[in-house]
Amino acid sequence: MDFYEAVEKRKTVREFQLKPVEKEKLMRVIAAGLKAPTHNNLREWEFVLVKDLEQRKRVVEVGVAAKDYSEKEVEKATRNMSEWEKPAYLAALPVQKRMLMSSPELLIVCFRMRQPLKECKTLYELNNFASIWTCIENILLAMAAEGLYGVTYIPRDTASLRKVLEIPGDYEVAALIPIGYPKDYSVKQKPASLNKKIHYDKW
Ligand SMILES: Cc1cc2nc3c(=O)[nH]c(=O)nc-3n(C[C@H](O)[C@H](O)[C@H](O)COP(=O)(O)O)c2cc1C
Repeated sequence: MDFYEAVEKRKTVREFQLKPVEKEKLMRVIAAGLKAPTHNNLREWEFVLVKDLEQRKRVVEVGVAAKDYSEKEVEKATRNMSEWEKPAYLAALPVQKRMLMSSPELLIVCFRMRQPLKECKTLYELNNFASIWTCIENILLAMAAEGLYGVTYIPRDTASLRKVLEIPGDYEVAALIPIGYPKDYSVKQKPASLNKKIHYDKW
C-alpha cells in the first residue's frame, strides 16, 4: 500500500471482528515499529503479546481504571471539551475494558526508562519516552497498511501492570494496543487545516 494511503486509512478502532490476525502480519507490524527513529540509536523497546485469556483478564483488571461513571461525573469531565473532543471521549469511555478484552491480539509496548518519569525535568531526559512513540506510530501505520486497526490505551497504574507482566524494573509500559480487523469506524477525525497549522518565519 502507498504510504499516504496508510496514513489516510489509520484511525482509532475499538470494536473488532472475531477474525484472527495472521501471525506474519503481526510480525511485520512489530518489525515496522522497530524501524522507527530512536534517541541515540538505542531502540530500547520490548513487546509483550498477551495470548493467554487468564493473563489478559489480569492485565485488563489492573491496567484499566475504567469504572461506571455517573451522569454527573461524565457531565463534569466533558463540560469544557470541544465539539470534537467530547464525542471522541463519549465513544471511548464505555468500551475501554471491552476493546482490550475482545481484540484478537493484545500488544503491550514497553520501553526502557533510565530515569523515573517523574524525575525528568527536561525534554532531553524524556528522549526514551519520546522515542517509544515514534515506534508506536510506525506500528499504527503498518497496521493500517495490513488492514488492521486498534487503539493506544495508556494505563493509569503501570506499577501493578508491570508486576503482572513481570516487566523488569527499568522498563515501563507505554501503551496497550488491542489489534484486529475493524468492526466500526464511528468517530470522525477533526479536520486539520494545513494553512492554519503552518507558520513561516515566526508564529
Ligand atoms: C497518547 C494517546 C493516548 C490515547 N489514549 C486513549 C485511551 O486511553 N483510550 C482510548 O480509547 N483511546 C485513546 N487514544 C486514542 C484517541 O482517542 C484517538 O487517537 C483520537 O480520538 C483521534 O482519533 P483517530 O486516532 O481515529 O484519529 C489515545 C491516543 C493517543 C495518541
